[in-house]
Amino acid sequence: MRMTSGSGHLPMGDDKASPWYGRHILSVSQFTREDVDHVHDVAADMQEIVQRTGGCDLLNGKILASIFYEPSTRTSCSFMAAMQRLGGQVIPINEVRSSSVAKGESIADTAITLGCYADVMVIRNPTVGSAAIAAANAGIPVLNAGDGVGEHPTQALLDTFTIRQELGHLDGLAVTLVGDLKNGRTVHSLARLLALYDDVRLTYVAPDSLQMPQDVVDQVAAAGVPQERCAQPDQVIADTDVLYVTRIQQERFSTPEEYEQVKGVYIITPETLRGAKDDLVVMHPLPRVNEIAEEVDADPRAAYFRQMEYGMYVRMALLALVLGRV
Ligand code: NCD
Repeated sequence: MRMTSGSGHLPMGDDKASPWYGRHILSVSQFTREDVDHVHDVAADMQEIVQRTGGCDLLNGKILASIFYEPSTRTSCSFMAAMQRLGGQVIPINEVRSSSVAKGESIADTAITLGCYADVMVIRNPTVGSAAIAAANAGIPVLNAGDGVGEHPTQALLDTFTIRQELGHLDGLAVTLVGDLKNGRTVHSLARLLALYDDVRLTYVAPDSLQMPQDVVDQVAAAGVPQERCAQPDQVIADTDVLYVTRIQQERFSTPEEYEQVKGVYIITPETLRGAKDDLVVMHPLPRVNEIAEEVDADPRAAYFRQMEYGMYVRMALLALVLGRV
């Protein structure tokens, strides 16, 4: 890695020869294990920089266009904080009502426009494949911040970084995914990414109507990862290293009645964690509605607030990588 912030040698310009330069981040399927490890290594350096000095000027002169067509707190704010901590600037479009999108402008045209003004773009949109459309048109690197029920690759990179920071490794883990596995894009990306590691086992705890999509199951199976279903989290908790809880994605249901049928189906309480390993890692991409009782927050194994912070370091790493600055 070229970044040598500790010794004060910041790069003078973009490294166009870097394999990451100009790359879009659209799906976790584009990554090798080495890629993921590299992102994590750079993220760990970013964590050190932030903890030591708050930031640096690695992306001085660069502009991020951040366009969110769906609500977001963590993803949009952590990308903005990441850009600003690296000395870059942000054009935030969080209220699409205030932009020409509200006049019916296509994603492609919006992407071409932002490509004229910015050096990198982050997009969240309710349509699967929308980030790929933006990438095909923007002329600048595009990072998928969630394309409907499709993928959320930067979240999966921060989820795996969280596991690495909490447990020290990603091999040999029993990971239990709980909640809306059908509509939750974070688990679609995470299951695929975990399949790059050795001896990972996945357990799915979801209502029948909200099971992991078959294409994800097939892809993970092709990588040789054992997958099983379980009815309740407490049945599998003793053999779980990482408990990844997700929100029932209310906005993806066609009728309120369908949502009501599965709402609150799993709630993790201190009781659920009785019998769990001492070094269990409890994660949640957040926002939580009521899937994890607030009493769990005080448990040192509850990593979901640390997970948010790790997200900023991972997004700093990704921005610096695709702009060829590390
Ligand atoms: C997730 C998302 O938007 O997919 N949130 C996030 O990015 N941290 C999860 C969710 O909304 O449930």
